[in-house]
Amino acid sequence: DAAAASAATITLPPPPPPPPSKQLNMVVIGHVDSGKSTLMGRLLLHAGKVDARTMHKYTQESQQLGKGSFRFAWVMDQSEEERERGVTVEVGTAFFSSGTRAVNVLDAPGHRDFVPNMIGGAAQADLALLVVNASNGEFESGLSGQTREHIVLAKSLGVQRLLVAVNQMDCAQWSEERYDQIRLALAPLLEQAGYRSPPPAFIPLSALEGANIARDTRPASGLEWYQGLSLLEEIDNVVPLHRSSTVGTRLAISDAFRHTATSALGALALTGTLQAGTLEVGQRLLLLPAQETVVVRSLQSRGEAVTEATAGDHVEARLAAASSSFDPSSVGIGSVLCDPLRPVALATRVEVQLKALGMLLTKGQPFELHSNAGGEVACTLRKFIASVDRRTGLQLNDAKAPRCLAPGGIAVVYLQLESPMPLERHSDCRQLGRIVLRQAGETVAAGLVTAIVRSTASARQKHKGRGSAQELST
Ligand code: GTP
Ligand code: MG
Repeated sequence: DAAAASAATITLPPPPPPPPSKQLNMVVIGHVDSGKSTLMGRLLLHAGKVDARTMHKYTQESQQLGKGSFRFAWVMDQSEEERERGVTVEVGTAFFSSGTRAVNVLDAPGHRDFVPNMIGGAAQADLALLVVNASNGEFESGLSGQTREHIVLAKSLGVQRLLVAVNQMDCAQWSEERYDQIRLALAPLLEQAGYRSPPPAFIPLSALEGANIARDTRPASGLEWYQGLSLLEEIDNVVPLHRSSTVGTRLAISDAFRHTATSALGALALTGTLQAGTLEVGQRLLLLPAQETVVVRSLQSRGEAVTEATAGDHVEARLAAASSSFDPSSVGIGSVLCDPLRPVALATRVEVQLKALGMLLTKGQPFELHSNAGGEVACTLRKFIASVDRRTGLQLNDAKAPRCLAPGGIAVVYLQLESPMPLERHSDCRQLGRIVLRQAGETVAAGLVTAIVRSTASARQKHKGRGSAQELST
């Protein structure tokens, strides 16, 4: 009997794994060709998200195009253009579970032409995985390219944690000296950007070989000197951002499309990150800036149908618009789905605490404003209000307002937006209260929204009386 009992014990299925704790949104950033998509392809393969047959197909088809080295990147780079050019254009998303964490991957493009897309990815993230190429000369050209810009953007957009994947170590003979050199070059940049505590970990690895991705994928030799954790172990240790939920529901939309499952008019599907509050099937919400009332028909999160999602979740939602004439093409990246009773402001003029990053800022200058919801709008620097002490962050009230702002300086300014954009005060909702300014393909400033100075009527106002601009006392 004892033998039978123990045999029975042995054949019992293992207990189900504990449900993964909160979802972690991870944006993968870094200079073009550092190996971001290859690394994500490898991670997804390791997590069992890509089957052998599909991988075999990618290998054969990429070889036929003469781009066999991009086989793992094809897991993320799915469009024809991306595969032919061998560069990521749009932020690719995927989902996997790592030990204790449910990870939503946002694979950003590294090419300088696609920084606006990268901004949309970073705006949704809790963690940035910075990928650098350890090969001789390549790390250095990345430093003068997008490596630095991406670090600053990630921090400016509110990504609190950062890890560094020192990739392509196979091309650097797994050299400890090279690893140290890269660490020493990057550490001051990261510290300056504000990634201080904890100091970012540097994980030596090879995406192409799949080495040091997980504890059981250490290279056979060459990495004896490394005492740290593997990439997946480091990811597992990151605690997702705490998202405030006092303002009501806020879903920052990253993609929208007409869904084909139903031919109903006004049917819309979208993906995005729930930045605050909760989202439920049946919930009535306001879509901005389209100003359309919608109802949630169904929800997907972590690859499964769910009835409710909470702040931090990356979701796919199917919606029905109240008006059948609603045009889904008016919804896109930068749109926000929010609580109709506590709507997000559709700002036309904002007060921002602005930090100049790379050039002198003067009154009247035009910029592209990128919001933390991923949207983009033309704006003008209208007015300097006050300067801010760089050390204390306090507004200098007694001083005269500055006339210009030198790189590194901070000032409170008014920005005039060319068209209304959903924005919030940073103190109300950290996730929707950050902006960056770009000009001629360069990131030139980053800021926190301190007041909505002017906004067009949204939600309730719309129903009371149409479209009149109103002053908000702030
Ligand atoms: P963008 O998205 O366009 O910025 O590029 P990416 O950073 O996603 O790089 P991608 O994954 O497309 O890889 C670029 C090239 O680097 C491909 O040819 C890869 O095979 C190669 N590569 C990536 N990781 C490694 C590595 O660890 N070792 C070696 N030897 N090559 C690698
Ligand atoms: Mg890529």
